[in-house]
Amino acid sequence: MIKKIAVLTSGGDAPGMNACVRAVVRSGLVRGFEMYGIRNGYRGLLEDNIVKMNRHSVSEIINRGGTVLGTARLPEFKNIEVQKKGVEILKKHGIDALVGIGGDGTYMGLAALSRLGINTIGIPGTIDNDIASSDFTIGFDTALNTIVECVDRLRDTSSSHQRCSIVEVMGNRCGDLAAYAGLACGAEMVITSETKFSKESVIDFLKKQREKGKNHAIIIISEKVCDVYELAHEIMYKCGFETRAEILGHMQRGGTPSAFDRVLASRLGHYSIELLQQGVSSSCIGIIDNKLTCNSIADALKMPRSSSEEFVKISNELE
Ligand code: F6P
Repeated sequence: MIKKIAVLTSGGDAPGMNACVRAVVRSGLVRGFEMYGIRNGYRGLLEDNIVKMNRHSVSEIINRGGTVLGTARLPEFKNIEVQKKGVEILKKHGIDALVGIGGDGTYMGLAALSRLGINTIGIPGTIDNDIASSDFTIGFDTALNTIVECVDRLRDTSSSHQRCSIVEVMGNRCGDLAAYAGLACGAEMVITSETKFSKESVIDFLKKQREKGKNHAIIIISEKVCDVYELAHEIMYKCGFETRAEILGHMQRGGTPSAFDRVLASRLGHYSIELLQQGVSSSCIGIIDNKLTCNSIADALKMPRSSSEEFVKISNELE
């Protein structure tokens, strides 16, 4: 019988993580569990940075971006000896279950801890939307809205100056932020990690746009596809289109979570505790078609992600 449950956030922070921590802690307390927060992800676990949580520990955080628990990336957690040390620390506190909010790195850590006897549930929290077992991850919607707001602003200045603006957005290797933002902003072109990319085709496209009489353009591109400053330079040089490149960067990860992210986070946080109470472990949860779902972490990590190509296609057709 589980008595003590801990929660941690790990990997890149995402707006809505706090709403999720709140839901986990309060649902746990309501069901009579003792609740603990682990600060700074798996690093905090190894440093025994664990605090007892009560209702008030999570007051006034539902609307706050980032994560009040803190987060970290800890590649060393792949090492079995490091994982065993984590289990030892959890056991020392009598903690039998762990809820981890994060991306696939967080899930791998949870799977390892499960193999060593800890009950675990993973909740998808990352702006990248790159967890196949959920239609949406906590933070994606807020980041998307931040991008849309930035691109709308850029459009004003880009059209006033008759320029081409290249906007690089995050997503790691997942094109969803770029694809959804492209559609939402009416971008002239969207390039993601999943679509084919060549500088020549971008330049050809812009030349044609110019011939059609278009004098400004917005290109939204996923990170890790190319050097956007070099691309801007080449566009200017090869088609005489004055071009500026903007990398939105970590600004996309901050800010007040959207209502969608708060609702998603609260539903998932609540569900994680329900499942632990039912004896479910080594699982990760999500929403598919607006229904809560639960899969084994191992299966979820193997699931192919649905591609955002459809969004890119529509966006490019509507330019
Ligand atoms: O996973 C979230 C994310 O913001 C990615 O989109 C990005 O590639 C990465 O984290 C950046 O990581 P860091 O904050 O460690 O530079």
